[in-house]
Formats: sequence, C-alpha cells, structure tokens
Amino acid sequence: MMGDYGEIFEEEMGRSTVFKDQSKLSPDYVPGKLLHRDEEFREFTRYFRPVLESGASQRVLITGSVGVGKTALARRFGRELESAGKKRGVNMTYAHVNCRKQGTAPMVIRKIASNFPISVPRRGFSPQEILDHVIHFLQKKDSYLTVTLDELDHFVEQNGPDLLYSLTRPFEESGGPNRMSIIATSFSPNFLDILDEATRSTFMHNRIDLNTYNAGQILDILNQRVKLAFKPDTVRGDSVDLISKIASRRGDARFALELLWYAGRVASEGEVEKVSPNQVRRAKSKIHPEVRREVLMDLGEHELIYLLALSRRLKISDEAYATGESVSNAYRVVCEEYGENPLENAELRSFVQKMEGLGLIDVEPSGRKEESRDRDLSISDAPLELMEGVIEKILQRRHGSGDRGGR
Ligand SMILES: Nc1ncnc2c1ncn2[C@@H]1O[C@H](COP(=O)(O)OP(=O)(O)OP(=O)(O)O)[C@@H](O)[C@H]1O
Ligand SMILES: [Mg+2]
Repeated sequence: MMGDYGEIFEEEMGRSTVFKDQSKLSPDYVPGKLLHRDEEFREFTRYFRPVLESGASQRVLITGSVGVGKTALARRFGRELESAGKKRGVNMTYAHVNCRKQGTAPMVIRKIASNFPISVPRRGFSPQEILDHVIHFLQKKDSYLTVTLDELDHFVEQNGPDLLYSLTRPFEESGGPNRMSIIATSFSPNFLDILDEATRSTFMHNRIDLNTYNAGQILDILNQRVKLAFKPDTVRGDSVDLISKIASRRGDARFALELLWYAGRVASEGEVEKVSPNQVRRAKSKIHPEVRREVLMDLGEHELIYLLALSRRLKISDEAYATGESVSNAYRVVCEEYGENPLENAELRSFVQKMEGLGLIDVEPSGRKEESRDRDLSISDAPLELMEGVIEKILQRRHGSGDRGGR
C-alpha cells in the first residue's frame, strides 16, 4: 500500500540479513584483541611502566599511515592502562580526544574535562580555568590522567603548537607531580618540527611507528570481524581474500573493514545468503568516492592544487602516468588560477609521499630518466572527472566564493 510506512518498516525489519551484529564493523569499535600488534603493545607498556609504578608522566607518539590502527592501539592501550591501574590501586583515567574533530584548543580541553565529574559551565570559564579544575581534581583524588591527542599533526598544522604547551604548563606550575601523560598520534613525525626542542625530542625518542598491513594480516583482521559481525557461514572465503587483496595495496585496515561492511549490505539488500566476490566489487565501486571525499577534505590548499594539477595533466595526456616535472608545471598554472604562490619542489615531493601513503596517487620511478629523481605519477583508481570535480568544489568553498570565474 502506498504511503504505508508501517508496512515498509516491517518488511525491512523482516528481511533476511547476513549480519549478526553490524556495530562490530563500525569504525569506533575496538576489538578486545588487536591482531599483529603485540610487539607495539609491549613497547607501549614499557613506556608506561614508570607511570604506574612511580607516578611519572610520559609522552608517546604513534605514527603510521591511514588505517594502520593508530586510534585502535591508543584506545586499546588506554583501556588496559585503566584496568592495570585499578589492579595496583592507582587511579588512572584515560581520555581520548580526536583533535581534528574538536578543532580548537578550548574544545580539546573541554573534551578532556568531560571525563571527570567536575562541573564546567558552558560559558564564563577559560580553558586555563577548566584545566585548573582538572588538576585540582587529580590532586585531591590522587589520580592520574592519560590523554590521547588523536590526529595531533592535523591540529598543529591548523592551529600551531600552543595546545601542547597550554596543556602541560599548568601541571608544571602546580608544584606537585605532573599527573598527565600524553599519547599523540600522527601520520608522520614531521609536525614535530615546529615544536620546541624538548617536546620534539621526547616524542621522537618515544615513538611507535605502525607499519602498513600486508594482505595476510588484513585477511586475519577481516576474519576476526567476520566472526563477530556476520552470521555463521555467510561470507565466502574468496570474498574475504579479494577484499584483503584490494586493501593491501594501501595496507589500510579501515578500508578493508568498510569494504566488508558494504559488501554485507549489498548482499543483505539482494537477500542472498552469502557475500560473493561480485558483491565485493560492487561495494568497492560504491564506497570509493566517499572514502576519497573524506580524505580530500583533510588535505591542505596546496596539496589539493597539486592533486588537481595531476588530474588535469592525466586527462589531457590520456596516459596512465604523468612525469613529476609535467605535474609541477601544471601545478604552477593551477596556483595562478587560485591566486596562490607556488611552493618549492622539496615541498611538492613531500606532498607526493603523503598522498601516496593516503592511497590517492600511485608513484613509479621514472623510466625515462633513470639518473634523475623524477617520478611518474598517477591517480590510483578514481575517475579523473570525479576527482577533479570534488577538488574544485572543495577549493572553491575554501576560497569563500566562486570568484575565479571560468571553470
Ligand atoms: N591490528 C588490528 N586488529 C584488528 N582491527 C584493527 C587492527 N588495526 C586496525 N584495526 C581496525 O581498522 C580500522 C582502522 O583502524 P584505526 O582507525 O585505528 O586506524 P588509524 O591508523 O587511526 O587511521 P587514521 O589515520 O585514518 O586515523 C578500525 O576499525 C580498527 O578497529
Ligand atoms: Mg585514527
């Protein structure tokens, strides 16, 4: 019956599905056991031993490319830290803050404070006053705090390094022991360059670098989730294999799990009993653009301009690869279009490295000039028009209005 939403609702609720518990596939879910990260977990524990044993404070940096488990490792470690504290009679609170989402230092500080039973009015309190309340609480209860500043590189690039200083200064000035330890996560350690020497060197010495996963490791991670999230025997082995192969190009577990989830949804919509490789392919073609869009939104102005230049270059030449030099030239042209001063080649090379890590571009050593450092570049597998359109839209929005005309 048209418009009978009750009926539609019941029909959908009654539809057979391959899922047992979809929440186990959500990006926020952290499994009890992280696979292939035991050594890193051990390393983490060593860094934190003095914190639990003698109330010292610690700083640790986790680095690694997209989807290698930086957030998951920090959260999982935090959970263990709290329960290990409890066992030893140490009050330890773990707070996890995504700095990119919180955006500003006051928001990060409020988020940290929200882990404590202290009342902070929405207005009228400066971040420093809020921190003082947190410190006072920790001292009164003889408690310790470990904060993860997740995606700190992104935050520091946007806002500068002040957050770190404003977090630690009040503890130093409080006279008592520093009760706050910091775990930072970042794509690379480059953002440390703008921090003071002392902060930089602590993080550099206490660094856990997570490698990208190979196909076998991704397969294990997928199989673990298949058991948790799907009904028995609803995902074909060759489907999981295919996903691990696709995702191992980037070594990105998040992409693998997204693909698995989406393939399951495609199968459920079709009311089939098992997830087949073809549903994986369908899922891949559907989720790609969105994945990219989110990644693109996080890129800086010049990175976007560079990527736009590469897309246009490839479109014009109609070849699989473009030389690094031709892209640099195209980049300068696009800079002019957007009224930006072009950056130096060294910086462009670091963009290439970063975007390769993000799976946005493919890099091959140039076949033409063996002796040069030139590279051939390509866009991994998004259609060029799509890439171009999305980047132009983001750039236009950032520039306020479409006053560049023409395109
Ligand atoms: N070793 C692992 N075992 C099980 N699941 C994992 C493992 N590593 C990552 N995952 C899962 O993969 C997904 C991506 O991991 P996570 O979000 O921690 O990556 P990340 O390094 O923080 O990525 P980003 O740089 O984008 O923030 C999550 O769902 C996480 O639970
Ligand atoms: Mg993360």
